[in-house]
Order: sequence, then C-alpha cells, then structure tokens
Amino acid sequence: NWNMSSFLEEHLARLREEIGENEQVICALSGGVDSTVVAVMLHKAIGHRLHCVLVDNGLLRLGEGEEIVAYLRQHFDLNLHFVQAQDLFLSRLKGVEDPEKKRKIIGHTFIEVFEQEAKALTGIKYLAQGTLYPDVIESISFKGPSAVIKSHHNVGGLPEKMDLALIEPLRELFKDEVRKVAVELGLPDFIVWRHPFPGPALAIRILGEVTQERLNILQQADKIVHNELMASGWYYKVWQGFAVLLPLKTVGVMGDERTYEHVIALRIVDSIDAMTADWTRVPSEILALISNRIINEVKGVNRVVLDISSKPPSTIEWE
Ligand code: XMP
Repeated sequence: NWNMSSFLEEHLARLREEIGENEQVICALSGGVDSTVVAVMLHKAIGHRLHCVLVDNGLLRLGEGEEIVAYLRQHFDLNLHFVQAQDLFLSRLKGVEDPEKKRKIIGHTFIEVFEQEAKALTGIKYLAQGTLYPDVIESISFKGPSAVIKSHHNVGGLPEKMDLALIEPLRELFKDEVRKVAVELGLPDFIVWRHPFPGPALAIRILGEVTQERLNILQQADKIVHNELMASGWYYKVWQGFAVLLPLKTVGVMGDERTYEHVIALRIVDSIDAMTADWTRVPSEILALISNRIINEVKGVNRVVLDISSKPPSTIEWE
C-alpha cells in the first residue's frame, strides 16, 4: 500500500541528488497529464533550473495550448517557453495525405523546433521525459509486427540527437499512479483527467490533407463535442471523445438549396488501457444535441455520423 506523499518526497529528493546543485534541465510540455506532472515535479525539485518548452504546432485542440500555459503561469513560477510554430507545421504538411507520413513530418518538425529552443539556452545537461512503466517494458520486450502499425513519435528520438542525459521521473509508474501523483501535486481535474491526445495531434483526425480550412472545421466541431461531453458529465466517464473530419463530401439540403459539404464522425470510447476499447453508449439526446450543434454552428458541415466500432478490429483513432 503505497503512500503518495512519501513517493513525492522520496522522488523530489532523488531528483535533486541525480541532477546535482548546478545543472539545468529541459522538458517538453504537451499539455497532457504525464508531461505536466514531470514539469511540476522538477519545478518543485530544482526551481528555475528547469526550462519547459511547449510547442504549439497549430494542431492542438482549440485554445488548449493557451489554457495549459495560462494555468501553469498562474500557479507555478515556471520557466516556460511557449513556441508558436503553426505556420511551419502547416507548410510541411501541405499536400500530404498518408497518415504515417503525417506522423513522421510532425515528429521531425517537433524535434527541429525543440532543438532550436534548446540550443538557445546554454548549459542544459538533462532532458526530462514522461516515460511511463508500460513504455519502458514495451521498448525492452516488444518487437512484434504491431510495433510498426503506428510510429509513436513522442517516445525516444530526442536525446541521441541532442546529446542530453535522460531523466524519467515516472518510469516506475502506471497511468493511474501518475494521476494520483498529479492530484497530490494539486493539479486540477481538467489536467488530471484530460483525455489522451496523440502526439501527431489533430493531423490524424483530419483524414486526407491538413489545410487551414479543414483544420478550422475540425477544431470547431471538436470543441462542441468536448463542451457537450463536459456539460453532460460524460467527459469524465469516457476514455476519449472527439470528432474526426472525413475526406468526403455529401449532399444535404438547407432551405430550398442543395448543399454539398463535409462529414464529421463522432468517436467516443470506453477503455482501460487503450489496447482494447468499445464505443460508449452515450444517451441519444446528447448525441442529438452534439449533431445539431455541429451542423448548425460549423460552417461547411452538413452531416454527422457515429462510429460504433470496437477495438479490435478497429482502432480508436481513424488514422
Ligand atoms: P489507437 O488508434 O491505436 O490508439 O487505438 C490507442 C491510443 O493511442 C493514441 N494514439 C497515439 N498517441 N502518437 C501518440 O502519442 C500516435 O501516433 C498515436 N496514435 C494513437 C490514441 O489517441 C489512443 O489513446
């Protein structure tokens, strides 16, 4: 039966010892619970010798980057670099439709932007990462073919290129334990219980090419899904709930006019560890509300469909 306060105390002491009296550390913030816990723990351990970098790739959920930065700036005196790189990411994604290519481009561009930030800070010795126990196990023992089904860009890659030593304060923890640490650190529900969000972000929820116009449509639809799940209390009951923009248009009718516009799919799932998942039986009134709002409020969408597939054989994401 392990006690979280003693975990924290012991680990902050261990981090201080590992890092030493003078060395500096850099960490990448994603807005997710893992990287936020790493940043706050290190901040408590070494204060201003920690530098956090949050790269806004323009593909985050609407307002999410600003929200996390505002929260952290208000509550912690962090060295926080909020890098605006939307244009770079969008220009690199221009004309790209293949999901694995999108992943690679976003991964490489992220490393490039992060490295540039790191170089501007002199004397950094360590890179802190939110690696969890299951990632550690997977990278040691998991070499099966499904390893290449999707290349997860947020694991590995950075330290080799940058010549930084790694610090992984969460490497002994499972996700539920990280959430307990987050509560212990006083982090709010919207961070502790934030839905998992893929490293390649909304790019893999925009099927086909990512353009500014299609990104705007998806962000607005996604915001409605998020807000209605929050308002009805379903946000905290499901594993993930989001919108996907499909690469097709369908016919609709508005007044006397025929329309020919985009389709949004709703993906809302229950899961314990993302290895298996099932579609959540969200009450039909809530689905109706989400659908009506998206079609009425998001210009360019005239149809909403519900994904009723389980994983396996489907996956949670559509790309
Ligand atoms: P799938 O779609 O494989 O997703 O059922 C399982 C979980 O992993 C997330 N996911 C990703 N996370 N980079 C990430 O960091 C990725 O490329 C990626 N693809 C999927 C997904 O959101 C779900 O929680």
